[in-house]
Amino acid sequence: MRRDQLPMVQPTVGLPERVTIYEVGARDGLQNEAAVVPVEVKVEFLTRLAAAGLGVLEATSFVHPKWVPQLADAAELLARLPRAAGVDYPVLVPNERGLDRALDAGVEHVAIFASATETFAQRNLNRTLDTQFTMFEPVVGRALQAGLRVRGYLSMCFGDPWEGAVAPKQVAAVGRRLIDLGCAQLSLGDTIGTGTPGHVDAVLDACGAAGVGVAQLAVHFHDTYGQALANTLAALRRGVSVVDASAGGLGGCPYAESATGNLATEDLVWMLDGLGVAHGVDLDALAATSAWMAEQLGRPSPSRVVRALRG
Ligand code: HMG
Ligand code: MG
Repeated sequence: MRRDQLPMVQPTVGLPERVTIYEVGARDGLQNEAAVVPVEVKVEFLTRLAAAGLGVLEATSFVHPKWVPQLADAAELLARLPRAAGVDYPVLVPNERGLDRALDAGVEHVAIFASATETFAQRNLNRTLDTQFTMFEPVVGRALQAGLRVRGYLSMCFGDPWEGAVAPKQVAAVGRRLIDLGCAQLSLGDTIGTGTPGHVDAVLDACGAAGVGVAQLAVHFHDTYGQALANTLAALRRGVSVVDASAGGLGGCPYAESATGNLATEDLVWMLDGLGVAHGVDLDALAATSAWMAEQLGRPSPSRVVRALRG
């Protein structure tokens, strides 16, 4: 490795000592690919990500296969996937049918995904803002009863392509409902990537005022406008220590056209290394995995760090 291929480490006060990287490439990334990736490629992708040191790998979604055909192989994927010791493999479930399928597959951790706005609740879940909760309530109840961990995602926290601005107070109120339902963690999604660092502060302030503190929060930034890393740093400064990212910057959301890839895990790792924040990931192994995945997909990785290291 060349000497310019490592950041200078300059530990910074006021940040978490360690960050949990919640890797969503196999789900948020692959759900948005035009092509359906073969199940054996997904198995190899997840296996290589685990070997690179990622401790949380969101593997797939048990959603309606017609809504997201890219992840229609969820049961087969989990049946074939060798589980690495100590690695957590959460999956998305929107409803009881999804939970039944996830339980059959032996999962231990599920995530429901809600919308902070009416329009996206309709487009992504075919429900209103209120009836999405009618759908989630039995899912969370039964999942907790079965001893599973439950995460709650909240989309459109920083703007909605159909409704425009979304008030932080509205985000916090809907997020609070997910916590009250029994979600152990709330992941704040900038689905279309329009947020900026001051906006992150405003949303975190509103969550705090609604009784949802940083210990319960994760951040989930899409990098559409190049703000994901700056927004992540703003959240770290506030004490958030769980950050969603996708290897190589894969991703988007099939039901929000303006959504592009997530914050690239490599870009996050580079920044955390420079800040002296622990994360447990081997950057070389990770970038090699993303470069390999980009070959499978037939296009270069959008991650700047992957391109700098592997280009
Ligand atoms: P619906 O059409 O209202 O479903 O869709 P329904 O409840 O009326 O059921 C219709 C039929 O679908 C029934 O079959 C069900 O059994 C079946 P029938 O009785 O007619 O033969 N069905 C299912 N089959 C398999 N698995 C299931 C399932 N559910 C129903 N889980 C539904 C409602 C929620 C299912 C649909 O809207 C859906 O699947 N939506 C998922 C959309 C999605 O996956 N979006 C991407 C993930 S969210 C995201 O990316 C954002 C995030 O990254 C954060 C951020 O960036 O903001 C998390
Ligand atoms: Mg997303």
